[in-house]
Amino acid sequence: MQLSLTQPSSWIMLLLLVTNMFLWKNVASVPMCAMRNARCFTFFEDTFELAGSLSHNISMEVSELFTQFENHYADVPGLKDKSLMRCHTSSLPNPENKEQAKHTHYEALLKSGHMFLEAWESPLDDLVNEISTMKNVPNTIISKAKDIKLRIQALQKGINSLISSMLQNGDEEKNYPAWSRLPLLQSDNEDARIRSFYGMISCLDNDFKKVDIYLNVLKCYMLKIENC
Ligand SMILES: *[C@@H]1O[C@H](CO)[C@@H](O)[C@H](O)[C@H]1NC(C)=O
Repeated sequence: MQLSLTQPSSWIMLLLLVTNMFLWKNVASVPMCAMRNARCFTFFEDTFELAGSLSHNISMEVSELFTQFENHYADVPGLKDKSLMRCHTSSLPNPENKEQAKHTHYEALLKSGHMFLEAWESPLDDLVNEISTMKNVPNTIISKAKDIKLRIQALQKGINSLISSMLQNGDEEKNYPAWSRLPLLQSDNEDARIRSFYGMISCLDNDFKKVDIYLNVLKCYMLKIENC
């Protein structure tokens, strides 16, 4: 069975298959696989592979969004105000870089990735809703933000299915950091609003660089890829 993995829809299809298959409990006995590069991947491996690829793409797209936003609003006074750079996720205990991630147990790494995804769920809704109401915001920024949200949702589905199949107590921790910056995004002062968006996108950028690292370290570990 072969799937084209370039379309978000087939990625979601695949995740649905994976989720259904996990209901069979015994993943190892599943005979189907996806052929890629002349290799047969189990759906389990496939999910890790796709999660790694998708998180990398998301991280690059978020960086592009950040750069576009920064260039477009470069003239706004105090744009890089440090007080707005404190992220709502900064209190989460997480590996800081690839070296640390490599020395972290795979379950903890999967949980960390999961936690970032959950922590950004409602802030991303606010970001996408509010950014489209800004004055003179380029369409490319709006559409990129929407696309990022969709991709992050797809990634979240994949990670949720991995969490519920691999971890015994996947649901035990529900203490995701609270998001309370919506009033700042709705400020009447347009410059203040822009600074808030800027701070938020910079946090998103930092956090999804980490998610990219975690999920790609996991992918290498799960698929036993050397030197990556
Ligand atoms: C990530 O981007 C690459 C290059 O654009 C693409 O080939 C690949 O299919 C994307 N991966 C996913 C999972 O969307």
